[in-house]
Amino acid sequence: MAKFSLLILPGDGIGPEVMVEVRKIIDWFMSNRGLDFDVTEDLVGGAAYDAHGTPLHDDTMVKALDVDAVLLGAVGGPKYDDLDFSRKPERGLLRLRKEMDLYSNLRPAQCFDALADFSSLKPEVVSGLDIMIVRELTSGIYFGEPRGIITEGNERVGINTQRYTESEIERVARSAFELARRRDNRVCSMEKANVMESGVLWRETVDKIHQAEYSDVELSHMYADAGAMQLCRWPKQFDVIVTDNLFGDILSDTAAMLTGSLGMLPSASLGAPMENGRPKALYEPVHGSAPDITGQGKANPIACILSFAMALRYSFDEGAEADRLEQSIENVLSKGARTHDLLGEEGITPLSTSKMGDAIVDALTESL
Ligand code: IPM
Ligand code: MG
Repeated sequence: MAKFSLLILPGDGIGPEVMVEVRKIIDWFMSNRGLDFDVTEDLVGGAAYDAHGTPLHDDTMVKALDVDAVLLGAVGGPKYDDLDFSRKPERGLLRLRKEMDLYSNLRPAQCFDALADFSSLKPEVVSGLDIMIVRELTSGIYFGEPRGIITEGNERVGINTQRYTESEIERVARSAFELARRRDNRVCSMEKANVMESGVLWRETVDKIHQAEYSDVELSHMYADAGAMQLCRWPKQFDVIVTDNLFGDILSDTAAMLTGSLGMLPSASLGAPMENGRPKALYEPVHGSAPDITGQGKANPIACILSFAMALRYSFDEGAEADRLEQSIENVLSKGARTHDLLGEEGITPLSTSKMGDAIVDALTESL
């Protein structure tokens, strides 16, 4: 059995609390399924800033580039609001994405049956929902030059640049088509080709890759604004959505809320294959550091645990074990177990972060 190296970066706020629960799950797989993980832990975000004066130490960056996968908790907090841009906790995360070249960000929005009532949409619109947003993560307006705030005459001008090369579009399109083949075989590409040249190039390039390499996959195109509308109207029409960095940021928050709770959603950020054939990869929950509930045992560890399930699937080729973990979570939820973010039903006492972790471990044991 291969040994997998895993770098854990708990980060800030509820990050460390939810990561304790992930460690229980990892231990379970090591003791019960013969998986072998070499786990190291390090600092990122505000925690790294407090220790080293930078949100990501160079040594941590080197480690991240060396391991099979990175698992991150969350970064940020009010304590760091006044730091300048280059030292903010978020910069640690953006540096990891950029230097690991994690161009394909997978954000599944899956509605667990037991939670269909939590959505702001009608249960029939979301029950059984299973879509995957593939967001380009290392280019576009997040990184384009020129950028900055300049002075023109007697006023200031804020500038950011949307910029995509063909090869950047090609690689994320391939990633979306590959995923679709393992799912319902449909991709919808979203841009604003009606107003943006980068959108025109995006659409042409996705079409080109589709015709040349993936004509077996069903491809459609939508303007991103119409896509946002369709996501709220009838989200089940989608399988895989591929889109740029900024539209992906926005559309993935919309998709996330369809499922009822941000506390449930994992993500994977994947780069090019390494020498061992596995993609460079970072896994993290979609939720943030939630300073308002930090240290109270109220955090939902499921998003982070599901992120580890994605690591099992995409980095470690353990799809069956990922299924086992996801099914165990589904079982725990259908028995009525809820963390604080999932309350609303009468007569349910919430489980603490740690009790939810224990319940998932028990469900895993029952799955044997
Ligand atoms: C996300 C977040 C980040 C982003 C922030 C924290 C930099 O909103 O991962 O969606 O904008 O990409
Ligand atoms: Mg976001």
